[in-house]
Amino acid sequence: MVTGGSGFIGSAVIRSLVAEQYAQIVNIDILTYAGNEATLLNEACYPGYKHEKADIRDAQAMRRLIKKYQPDAIMHLAAESHVDRSIDGPGEFISTNIQGTYNLLEAVRTEDDRRLALTDQSWRRVRFHHISTDEVYGTLGASGYFHEESPYQPNSPYSASKAASDHLVRAWAETFGTDTVVSNCSNNYGPYQYPEKLIPVVIHRALAEDVIPVYGKGDNIRDWLFVDDHATALIEVMGRGESGRTYNIGGDSERTNLEVVETICRVLDDIAPRGNGTYSDLITFVQDRPGHDFRYAIDADRIKTELGWRPQERFETGIRRTIEWYLANQDWVNVVGGAHSAKKRQGLGGSE
Ligand code: NAD
Ligand code: TYD
Repeated sequence: MVTGGSGFIGSAVIRSLVAEQYAQIVNIDILTYAGNEATLLNEACYPGYKHEKADIRDAQAMRRLIKKYQPDAIMHLAAESHVDRSIDGPGEFISTNIQGTYNLLEAVRTEDDRRLALTDQSWRRVRFHHISTDEVYGTLGASGYFHEESPYQPNSPYSASKAASDHLVRAWAETFGTDTVVSNCSNNYGPYQYPEKLIPVVIHRALAEDVIPVYGKGDNIRDWLFVDDHATALIEVMGRGESGRTYNIGGDSERTNLEVVETICRVLDDIAPRGNGTYSDLITFVQDRPGHDFRYAIDADRIKTELGWRPQERFETGIRRTIEWYLANQDWVNVVGGAHSAKKRQGLGGSE
């Protein structure tokens, strides 16, 4: 069972599960602005795939669906995921990310109790894999890395809501014996990312000959991971991770935002040149994000040594693949409302 399977990362996970021929895959996704049926069109024909349009904030629905499908494992990705939106309207982040995770944990507990009450000796708990972010650890200076033991210091409403949900998962494992694994990953990029995050916004605006907004001086640093590498890591953690353990996942690909933007401009100059000038002429420095974390960087040693996972894609080739995908899939961008979204500056802190 995958929650949030119609979003950016969840859909990559489902494509990987389909490729690995998992017998039955249930996607629980209410289809917010960030989730769309167009994202999983091909998988709709896979015989073992089923989409349940349900809200993780609906506790009864979560209990009903877990009872109905009796999953071996739940990969929980459904969330409000955009920092800028969390600055403009934190409420949805609290209800979906915290209350929604709580509902799923309680539904899992009910299902575990039901299985325990059966006389069958071979019963197994539901494995609950909580997918989280490195942003729960706060921000780094110029050196150092986030480790699994780094203190939680979230700075945005988004990261605070994810941190809260991580704590709930830990507590359910410690108190109720729920079989949990948690993974905290760095910034993802790749196909099907909603055009409100940095990379798809830059691609879209460049192609539209619009200004390319770089927050502050563009010197903030992120550690970029190609989304299919994240999906592979998640399937390893779900299948082989040690119960109660956290795994950090990262791309070993730190770049300043300005470097990322300039790389995209160079690739576009190569494959879709402008009539006059270069795309980098469109780069514009704009007002910074409030509470903007300076640097994220992951030490992914644990998942590498314990589960043998490594990122396969290099940033230079992955970004080119991503840009080519967006060029070839403008229909998808239009269907999900990406053109409108990419134009809109969010995150300057209006109230709800
Ligand atoms: P996304 O915003 O692209 O997709 C989220 C999905 O969840 C959408 O399909 C949406 O419809 C669904 N959803 C939202 N609220 C729901 C609700 N109440 N009930 C049911 N479904 C709901 O997000 P993403 O970028 O794919 O991120 C997936 C997960 O990975 C999130 O938990 C996020 O915190 C985490 N994560 C993301 C990144 C990143 O770089 N994008 C990095 C690390 C961790
Ligand atoms: P984003 O993709 O929103 O991811 P996150 O905030 O989770 O890291 O932003 C990545 C970085 O890019 C972040 O430092 C903010 C910056 N940024 C811009 O400079 N311009 C933009 O238009 C956007 C959306 C982000």
